[in-house]
Order: sequence, then structure tokens, then C-alpha cells
Amino acid sequence: MSDDQTQSIEAASKNPKNLGEMENADAVGTVGRSDCGDMLRMWVKFKEEDGRKVIDRATFQTFGCQTAIAVASVATEMIRGKTASEALSMSGEELSSALGPLPPMKIHCAQLVEDALRSALDPASSIAEASIPALGQTSQTGPTLADQITPKSGKVKITLLPKAPTP
Ligand code: FES
Repeated sequence: MSDDQTQSIEAASKNPKNLGEMENADAVGTVGRSDCGDMLRMWVKFKEEDGRKVIDRATFQTFGCQTAIAVASVATEMIRGKTASEALSMSGEELSSALGPLPPMKIHCAQLVEDALRSALDPASSIAEASIPALGQTSQTGPTLADQITPKSGKVKITLLPKAPTP
């Protein structure tokens, strides 16, 4: 990984955009990777624009690595204004393109973001948990990732990051 890329990933992960739960989201998707144990949840809100239903805003929460946070940050910015099918046509490579090409060992981190987006937007997908209600209807925000973690033994310290500001 080049120094420039390391810096852009560090910058995006230290000050991530669109971090936090979204109330009244239209779609929610959660995915996890068994190989590294990382999880990512994405919330999506749509709006009507020029007769098209486009993504108004997307937010995320993750127990993931620095690269996953950086990719989720740039991806949630990139998909604004796109329809669900336009966003679904984007690969992890495209979603992370603002950070430059990822090294092979970090490609799965971008895949985690792509899978979370697919889980939220594509009800027919094998990884989907959520459906896209019509505009005006809202799905349940669902529990936070922290709500779903139950320590099996010992103590677990979870640091919650602040909610993303409501526009
Ligand atoms: Fe698991 Fe990056 S190491 S998502």
C-alpha cells in the first residue's frame, strides 16, 4: 500500500462521514465476515428526485477494521443520488475507488461494504435481510450492532461512537 493510500484510509477512518444509526431508514442491511469477525450495518433513506427514487442518505455502523470504516465512509457519500439499482451495480472496487486501489489483503474489507449495501437494497439477494418499502413507509431501524453483541464470557468494553448528525 502506498503512503498516499495509507494516509487517505487513515484520514477517512479517523473522521468517517455518515457514521451512526439512522432513524426512519427505508432499508437496513447487516453483514458479517466469519474469517475476520468484522460486521457492518448500513441504513439507507430514499427521496424522490425528478421522478426517480434515489438514495438521499446512507449511514453505517461497524465493528470492522480501519479500511472497512474508510470504505463505508466514502461509499455512503458516493451512492447519494443514485437509484437502488445503480448503487447495486457498483462493486466493492468502485465503492472504494476514492481511496485508490486496495491491496489484495484489503479487498474483502470493501466487499463487506458492498455486501451490506446489497443486503439493504436487494431483497432477493441471498444476503439480504431487509426490503425496500415504498416511499413514505419506513422500516424499523432495528437494534444497533452493540445491542446484538452478548458477551459469552468475561468483560467486553464497547465504545459507542456518536450518531451521525441529522441533515
Ligand atoms: Fe475484516 Fe477489514 S479485516 S473487514
